[in-house]
Amino acid sequence: MHVTTREHLILGIESSCDETAASIVAGGRRILSSVIASQVDLHRKYGGVVPELASREHLRRIVPVVREAVEQAGVTLPDVDAIAVTQGPGLIGALLVGVTYGKALALALRKPLIAVNHLEGHVHAVFLEAHAAGRRPELPSVCLIVSGGHTLLYHVASEASHGAPRFSYQRIGGTRDDAAGEAYDKVARMLALGYPGGPVIDRLAPRGNAGAVRFTEPKMRGNASDFSFSGLKTAVFYHLRRNPQLEPEIEARRQALARGEGGADALRALCTPETLDLIASFQRRVVHNLVAQTLAAARERGIRTIFITGGVAANSELRRTFEAEAAGGNWDVYFPSRALSTDNAAMIAAAGYARYLAGERADSSLDPQANLPLA
Ligand code: KG4
Ligand code: ZN
Repeated sequence: MHVTTREHLILGIESSCDETAASIVAGGRRILSSVIASQVDLHRKYGGVVPELASREHLRRIVPVVREAVEQAGVTLPDVDAIAVTQGPGLIGALLVGVTYGKALALALRKPLIAVNHLEGHVHAVFLEAHAAGRRPELPSVCLIVSGGHTLLYHVASEASHGAPRFSYQRIGGTRDDAAGEAYDKVARMLALGYPGGPVIDRLAPRGNAGAVRFTEPKMRGNASDFSFSGLKTAVFYHLRRNPQLEPEIEARRQALARGEGGADALRALCTPETLDLIASFQRRVVHNLVAQTLAAARERGIRTIFITGGVAANSELRRTFEAEAAGGNWDVYFPSRALSTDNAAMIAAAGYARYLAGERADSSLDPQANLPLA
């Protein structure tokens, strides 16, 4: 590994939800390591993240994960210039583990500590990827952050301040109820497709007819850039109630999952065309809504740069639909790679780097904040 003398090394630490992650990023852009200990297997049988289990697992994993990130980068802890840690938003007990460990490391190593907003991390995942691909996104952009915990639209701008970019974030809209990823996970649960639901639904949706089941678009009063997904989830529930003939196959999939046979191919073999149509229609409705709202917000502001980030940004149909829009020539669309779309610590290190250059420092009074807003 070669680090130029001008390249500052940031150790990023992320523990806001169900991934314990650490990463070393050089110069805010070059990922030297990105280690992610996922807890998906632990939470699977509950069909969602159990906060108490998440905190306990973070405690168990944080030290080895940070050690591995440092080793994989080929550096040592004293080589690190600053430690960036996720302060929020997220699960308070989970955040507490990362923040406490970050503070202790900073104190022991006498290194600056930088507090990072997890959502800002997702925005910086886009910059990391763009840099790796040799692209330079033009700001301002409209950024869709879409994950299991969030569905948000932000206006992202930057200005240079003493040679360092300073980013600003203005909230345009957000979900009034469930996040899009949460809708994926809950619908997958109703249909017995395993956890998390997004990747499986993504794999199965192309097998069905997306026009088969009609789901209405929500009518948003007030802020037209807000989202709502709980009505869609309820509509799927009533669809299943009206179609009891689907119950035996749901039970068959439930048993397959219990036997540990939850791969997408095995589950697909247990889906009738009717169910595949339902899955395809559900996904089409989510994707259409996300794309339409994002582009409307950009059009309204005369912005042509679009960022899409967060776990659901890994979705194939969402990517294809945005890319088809971009091919029309009106938009410059940026996604992180799939690995950088879901929670990771490289994005935290990258976001922390900008704040590090701007001279921002946190001290030992830093506390995690479950509802930390991005501003
Ligand atoms: O960003 P993330 O790793 O964690 C949160 O901050 O929530 O996102 C996880 C969410 C889950 O709800 C999962 O079902 C969803 O992202 N997801 C997907 C896909 N991959 C993950 N949703 C749709 N399509 C995918 N390919
Ligand atoms: Zn996230």
